[in-house]
Amino acid sequence: MANRETDNSEVTPWTVEGEVDYDRLVSQFGTRYIDDQILEYFKKLTGEVSFFVRRGFFFSHRDLDWIFKKYERGERFYLYTGRGPSGRVHIGHLLPWYFTKYLQDKFKAQLLFQVTDDEKYLYRDELTLQGVREMTDDNLLDIIAVGFDARRTQILIDTRGIHELYPISIKVAKAITLSTVKAVFGFEDSTNIGMTFFPSVQAAPSFLYSEKLGRPVPCLIPAAIDQDNFWRMTRDVADKLGYYKPAQVHSKFLPALNKEGKMSSSLPETAVYTTDKPKDVERKIKNAFTGGQPTVEEQRKKGGNPQICPVFWYEQYFFEKDDRRLEEIRQSCLTGRLLCGEHKISLVTKVKDFLEDFQRKREQARTKVNEFLYDPDRQVVL
Ligand code: TYM
Repeated sequence: MANRETDNSEVTPWTVEGEVDYDRLVSQFGTRYIDDQILEYFKKLTGEVSFFVRRGFFFSHRDLDWIFKKYERGERFYLYTGRGPSGRVHIGHLLPWYFTKYLQDKFKAQLLFQVTDDEKYLYRDELTLQGVREMTDDNLLDIIAVGFDARRTQILIDTRGIHELYPISIKVAKAITLSTVKAVFGFEDSTNIGMTFFPSVQAAPSFLYSEKLGRPVPCLIPAAIDQDNFWRMTRDVADKLGYYKPAQVHSKFLPALNKEGKMSSSLPETAVYTTDKPKDVERKIKNAFTGGQPTVEEQRKKGGNPQICPVFWYEQYFFEKDDRRLEEIRQSCLTGRLLCGEHKISLVTKVKDFLEDFQRKREQARTKVNEFLYDPDRQVVL
């Protein structure tokens, strides 16, 4: 597999296992760290740096400086992100979407949101097309509940809107050989042919608004770094097809509650879903791995290690927005003033409060779906 990065970890669009070495991914995928220059650029253009970036959750990029420079000169970009509806949405999925919403608000950017129901049907043997359709309808509520601006957002579901993407997909497909997708994605002779074509479908939205407007339009893709294989391939063909290479901003993974790999729907007890009930949240977080000591006495004496603790990461990457308060929590962990059990109880409260609000918005989303669905006749102003 092309991205096998150490003996015990793997990062591809379909598998994230083991302890992820982000430094290694940056060098292997050829991306760049978000450095001081990019932080300054964010400050200059938006007046601040989002906590997602400040705290290193979004940590890597390609061409952010290029896209910012264009923006400064009056050339607007659009955002492109997505979801493969194979199951329920968990909090990990939400984080790149919240950052996308943040960017949409700050840059008044258009957003194209792709739902790759075709990908999940093709990839997962056990899924039927009808099952994926039901998941798609369910996942749309999560996407809308994030709060994207309906006037600036279009959600394109592949099996329902493929005619919009298809002309671009075949141009991309014609420029890519089977041996390239085998090398990039690890496809084998036993892989179904739908999967070998699919990367050109995920590439297409990077170019859709360029096609619509009849000129190259800059596109920025916020996503976790597991999707990067698609972007390397897409960037490789962009020039040849007369488009700009899409830019990326990459996040880390919100880990599973047991710490290994990423929060994943295949391990339901270690993932918090948007539709979980308060008692599920409580049970899952109480069973979480922590960076604490085995006994209360040792914890009081030696302190815990927030650096390796999912409970702390959840605070850092999403649930505690106040920097001062986060630092207090970190210090209390380190000095043993805060016990892991106590910390879990406080995180449970924050997650429950968040979900109560999110689930309300999710219900309200039922009446808004049509406002968000891709409309080929809608004029996109860029
Ligand atoms: P999917 O549905 O696997 O994931 C949706 C988004 O969530 C990110 N993600 C995570 N982020 C943080 N922590 C985690 N534990 C975690 N798990 C998943 C993914 O990187 C993604 O951003 N093929 C795609 C759908 C897609 C897409 C796109 C995604 C189509 N076009 C453009 C991003 C950008 C997929 O199956 O995503």
